[in-house]
Amino acid sequence: MTQLETERLIMRTLCTDDLEWLVTMRGDADVMRYIGGEGAVSRERTVERVARYLQCWNEHGLGMFGVRFRGEDEAVGWAGLQPLEETGEIEVGYAFGRTAWGRGLATETARAALEWGFRERGLERIVAVASPENAASRHVMDKLGMKYEGIRFRYGTDCAYHSITAKAFAEHSAQAAARAR
Ligand SMILES: CC(C)(COP(=O)(O)OP(=O)(O)OC[C@H]1O[C@@H](n2cnc3c(N)ncnc32)[C@H](O)[C@@H]1OP(=O)(O)O)[C@@H](O)C(=O)NCCC(=O)NCCS
Repeated sequence: MTQLETERLIMRTLCTDDLEWLVTMRGDADVMRYIGGEGAVSRERTVERVARYLQCWNEHGLGMFGVRFRGEDEAVGWAGLQPLEETGEIEVGYAFGRTAWGRGLATETARAALEWGFRERGLERIVAVASPENAASRHVMDKLGMKYEGIRFRYGTDCAYHSITAKAFAEHSAQAAARAR
């Protein structure tokens, strides 16, 4: 099992123990509004999805993490890295239950996933895609220093496509650290 830690959060490899809260979160049409294209997701589809998350970890040595505040059992969302179905490029993804929105959790977890992908998994480049209307998600990508490259067809639809290289991420992180001093 892989575990990442951030200032506020613990990120742990998703597993079958995570099924129930995923069923609840993925069953919320607001959470799924811009993901998957079908709105609220059934238990059956989430069972299939969890199996794919496990397969992803086994095949690629990377995948999605369940996210919890330190010291708390209840998961607040999921985030991590996975290959894009169409191209095999590695994308960073994130989604949180509604009560967790607006607290910087997507930015914090996506940053941790990028750092892990570049430093520990040796990736050269990571992409992110979002519905063009998903302004909050696109803003997260901007905050991470991910460059907008235009609209690309991914997941069967037009997506805003962003990317960042290992070098650009290191520079962006160094600038952010300098600003914080
Ligand atoms: C998109 C999502 C992951 C953002 O998570 P979050 O933890 O609230 O994100 P953060 O707080 O780290 O950052 C969001 C930023 O977008 C801003 N934002 C929120 N709604 C916005 C909107 N409608 N338009 C523009 N910016 C918006 C926030 O103010 C914040 O920016 P700031 O830190 O400069 O104030 C969350 O809303 C979610 O889980 N949505 C459902 C699943 C989803 O769409 N996932 C992404 C798929 S690509």
